[in-house]
Amino acid sequence: MSSLRIFVTRRIFPEALDLLSPFAELEVWPGDYPPSPQELREKAANAHGLLTNVMDRLDEELLDAAPELKAISQVSVGLDNVDLAEATRRGIPVGNTPGVLAKATADLGFGLLLDAARRISQGDRWLRAGNWRLAYHPMHWLGAEVHGATLGIIGMGQIGLEMAKRGRGFDMKIIYHSRTRKPDLETQYGLDWVQPDILLSTADFVSLHLPLTPETRHYIGEAELRSMKTTAILINLARGPVVDPKALYTALKEGWIQAAGLDVTDPEPIPPDDPLLTLDNLVISPHIGSASVDSRRTTCLLAARNLAAGIQGNRMEQCANPEVYRALGL
Ligand code: DGY
Repeated sequence: MSSLRIFVTRRIFPEALDLLSPFAELEVWPGDYPPSPQELREKAANAHGLLTNVMDRLDEELLDAAPELKAISQVSVGLDNVDLAEATRRGIPVGNTPGVLAKATADLGFGLLLDAARRISQGDRWLRAGNWRLAYHPMHWLGAEVHGATLGIIGMGQIGLEMAKRGRGFDMKIIYHSRTRKPDLETQYGLDWVQPDILLSTADFVSLHLPLTPETRHYIGEAELRSMKTTAILINLARGPVVDPKALYTALKEGWIQAAGLDVTDPEPIPPDDPLLTLDNLVISPHIGSASVDSRRTTCLLAARNLAAGIQGNRMEQCANPEVYRALGL
């Protein structure tokens, strides 16, 4: 019997578990809903490894409750649910899964962009409600042109780049803002770096690809929404709180911008009585950016490989706090 113990906080692809079972005793939380903070602390109390996802809160209290913890591995890119600084201080490597889900997430993002522009979900809701009585009218159901429009990407990481590539496929002009310029990408994909105020005031589509940090909370608020074109469409694939939901509601209701497509909300799940859900110029998907079968399988496998390495004292393939390896001499 192995002396290493792993707690997996949700069911994942069996082939990912198969990577871990040869050298560790696994316990998988069977419920679809996450363990409560108390239950998570109890499960973590004698675990050497945790395989987690975005709904699990990995804070100082949890880390205090897990004295034997050697590694955390999360099935996501975003780690805003993890106290990364505290894990680093304790020498615990934290794995995440960049790269393997960027294309699937950008596919979904482009789907939201097309949907918000051409009002696909809105039309679907309308006709299912029995409203389609006039087969065609030249002035009905007009939407925004996508090809030839300007796509403004905020955050040029892997998902931002995949959005840019899809935009190029639609003959869009691509402008972007990120803290560091990417001259190679600019040349290769014909991207123009601009300041955020220029991006917001000139883009026809603004697509957000920022991690959630104290600095990026409400990055898009009233002032930013008012500075956008009245014909602009906002896409958020990042994290819900990157956009101020009250300001977004007013912007969509009063026509400061034309429409929005969100894969993330604040809070999640969005309550059924949230005022945003009364708006027709908004399409929302339930945080499914990476949810293609292949992408989720590959992501779970990477998370399992990260944990396998971390728990056995080896370097993870993708580690969000590689500085811990200095202390470990790796
Ligand atoms: C990510 O990888 O961060 C996705 O949003 C799933 O949580």
